[in-house]
Amino acid sequence: MTGPRRISRTAEAAITTVFRRLEYRMLGRVYCYEGGDEFWNAKREPCRRLGLGIAGALLRRLKPGGRSLYVGAGVAELPPLLVEALDLQRRVFPYNLRRSEVTSLNRTCRGTPVRFRPEDAATATGRFDHLWIVSVLNDPERFPHVAPLSYGNADPVTFDPGLFRKERRTVRSIVNRCMPKLSLPGLVTTSAEEVRWIADWCHRKGIPYLVERRQYPTALVGDPICFIRIGENRCKS
Ligand SMILES: C[S@@+](CC[C@H](N)C(=O)[O-])C[C@H]1O[C@@H](n2cnc3c(N)ncnc32)[C@H](O)[C@@H]1O
Repeated sequence: MTGPRRISRTAEAAITTVFRRLEYRMLGRVYCYEGGDEFWNAKREPCRRLGLGIAGALLRRLKPGGRSLYVGAGVAELPPLLVEALDLQRRVFPYNLRRSEVTSLNRTCRGTPVRFRPEDAATATGRFDHLWIVSVLNDPERFPHVAPLSYGNADPVTFDPGLFRKERRTVRSIVNRCMPKLSLPGLVTTSAEEVRWIADWCHRKGIPYLVERRQYPTALVGDPICFIRIGENRCKS
């Protein structure tokens, strides 16, 4: 069974309402060291618009009634979360370790089916046919020694292999704890820079995967997003 091909007016209206209600002053402090107001003035509309594009692409790939695990979900994930829940009647489980952002997002999302959890996504229970992990494994704030390598701008003069190895263990452990929650065949949504971590897990487990060619731009972190089909027989690894 496949879902609708276009985002409904109901879902689009819910997204517009949520973006109007977001607590931008508070979110400015979460997302920026300074200049939060300017950041959101510039980013809120592109974030809504590009989010709708990605949500539309997900609508064509996911089945109604499944479950989605979102690792590290914030404002950028609101359009796909709402479209999955409202247009596909899927259960969505967004996790985010930034407690203040979660509290604010949950105030904004009151009355919708979306509820953020201020916990490690690896604690989620049950199986999911879709895993979303975008700009988490290459986050320069949390992984300052892994991120420059992911983005291809590491400095050989200051690069510290010891600190890098430590961070790589943490990144791998996030992947190792989240990926087994995906039922096969399943879909992973991730950034172009994070594909290699998912591919590495698939290689280690001997599971075939296919990275779709098309990439979708994003507005906040700015990492382009793509889809990976995991465990489909016709895929080549
Ligand atoms: C750079 S932000 C990206 C947010 C959003 N995905 C975006 O693209 O705008 C990384 C987020 O991942 C969250 N995060 C990192 N590890 C996590 C984990 N194990 N479980 C849940 N959230 C996590 C952090 O709390 C942070 O909110």
